[in-house]
Amino acid sequence: MTDVLNELEARREQARQGGGQRRIDAQHAKGKLTARERIELLLDENSFEEYDMFVSHRCTEFGMEKTKMPGDGVITGWGTVNGRMVYVYSQDFTVFGGSLSETNANKILKIMDMAMRNGAPVIGMNDSGGARIQEGVASLGGYADIFQKNTLASGVVPQISMIMGPCAGGAVYSPAMTDFIFMVRDTSYMYVTGPDVVKTVTNEIVTHEELGGASTHTKKSSVADDAFDNDVEALAALRRFIDFLPLNNREKPPTRPFFTPVEKPDPSLDTLIPDNPNQPYDIKELVYKIADEGDFFETQPDFAANIVTGFIRMEGSTVGVVANQPLVLAGVLDINASRKAARFVRFCDCFNIPILTLVDVPGFLPGTAQEYGGVIKHGAKLLFAYGEATVPKVTLITRKAYGGAYDVMASKHLRGDVNYAWPSAEIAVMGAKGAAEILYRSELDDPDKIAARTKEYEDRFANPFVAAEMGFIDDVIYPRNTRKRVARAFASLRNKDLQNPWKKHDNIPL
Ligand code: HXC
Repeated sequence: MTDVLNELEARREQARQGGGQRRIDAQHAKGKLTARERIELLLDENSFEEYDMFVSHRCTEFGMEKTKMPGDGVITGWGTVNGRMVYVYSQDFTVFGGSLSETNANKILKIMDMAMRNGAPVIGMNDSGGARIQEGVASLGGYADIFQKNTLASGVVPQISMIMGPCAGGAVYSPAMTDFIFMVRDTSYMYVTGPDVVKTVTNEIVTHEELGGASTHTKKSSVADDAFDNDVEALAALRRFIDFLPLNNREKPPTRPFFTPVEKPDPSLDTLIPDNPNQPYDIKELVYKIADEGDFFETQPDFAANIVTGFIRMEGSTVGVVANQPLVLAGVLDINASRKAARFVRFCDCFNIPILTLVDVPGFLPGTAQEYGGVIKHGAKLLFAYGEATVPKVTLITRKAYGGAYDVMASKHLRGDVNYAWPSAEIAVMGAKGAAEILYRSELDDPDKIAARTKEYEDRFANPFVAAEMGFIDDVIYPRNTRKRVARAFASLRNKDLQNPWKKHDNIPL
């Protein structure tokens, strides 16, 4: 028996060594942790249960039969994060560059199946040279099998991708099909084809960082949801993030103890809105003041900052927040903001996360750039996402809610459950000056007359009461009581039951 135990330990030790000390040192020299170190940091101490540690590839091309490494370039299993179960895979760059072989793909597929059966998120830590070149089409098949599984798992369990090294070719498409992507600055890249291919095909000379670094994907492409300075920070942030999420689509989000009193008014909110309606203010100040402990996990902070998205807790329960940001482009809705918020709303709806919408929006951004870019279709994504969402929806209009953007931002008409406004709210088809100039075009050359018409329109519509008289606003609330009123609204919706008509699936304007 001792012999077999020794053999087991020797085999385990060999698997733990991955591609050997030289390659581990090279990994560290790049400022990256190894696949195992990452798992250790992500999961609760001693909670990792590893599977398929002894799996190796079956390739016999290019002398591969002589280089078999147990584990075959990916470490898989499950563990807990703050006591809650998650499945993980972590690509081991020290073994064939973390490249994806047929057997390596099968390991990932196995834990994805288990995650779906057992109702726990899948966390992928990606650090891979892409398809295992020696295996050819077998590797491509492995990728496609993962893409298919990503599709089936979507909306069943949360899927999160950490990009912690190179990700090229097929390696980017599995992350792209998951719910959230987080990158590490300076050590991670995502692109369909690398700089060399770009140069050959288009003559464009571009660095890895410019083409697919964290800055590119968090600021320009919006492929990634956020980026962190190093592996340790990224994994610490991921632990915090997972705490906001339910484990699957049958569960409600977790509840945590909270300490910020709900009943206590916050008089500072009475003066958050400046006297001048064109002066901006920071909507995040309101988010922090509504949230338990001011704890806000923002997603895509560096992309389309005219809309803010992220997670808070209210009375211990997770709430998704969507808020127009008057500080950026006056909080206007444009293509990027609509896409960003629509995807966020759909994630919340998939996973039973109630949605709080804070509205201060002057409308959709006009102009040829937006129209040629398809703002109609992209704006419709947000409209559609809110319209189909059945989770509790609480909306607060703080200031402007003009035109189509009023409708879009979780209005009563899109099945908003509780719709509040501050007394400073202006709910109208458009701003007063624009309205007067259209209605009284013949008086345009007389500024005094137009000013009087503007005032007339303002007096009639620059308030929340017309909408409140119609029941489109359930109450006009004191800003100081916002946390209490919103928390009570969500509390009243805990047992909300709303179903959409049966369908195979909808046809959101993509
Ligand atoms: C097999 C690979 C590999 C791969 C890297 N390695 N990529 N082995 N298949 N795809 C191995 C190397 O041989 C090396 O082995 C070790 O991993 C580390 O690689 P280095 O090149 O030394 O590391 P580095 O300089 O950091 O460069 C990393 C890299 C580069 C940028 C990822 O290796 C690279 O460009 N690899 C090829 C990327 C690629 O074109 N992949 C195919 C994409 S197409 P040793 O033994 O020396 O340690 C694709 C199609 C899928 O994925 C489509 C599905 C739809």
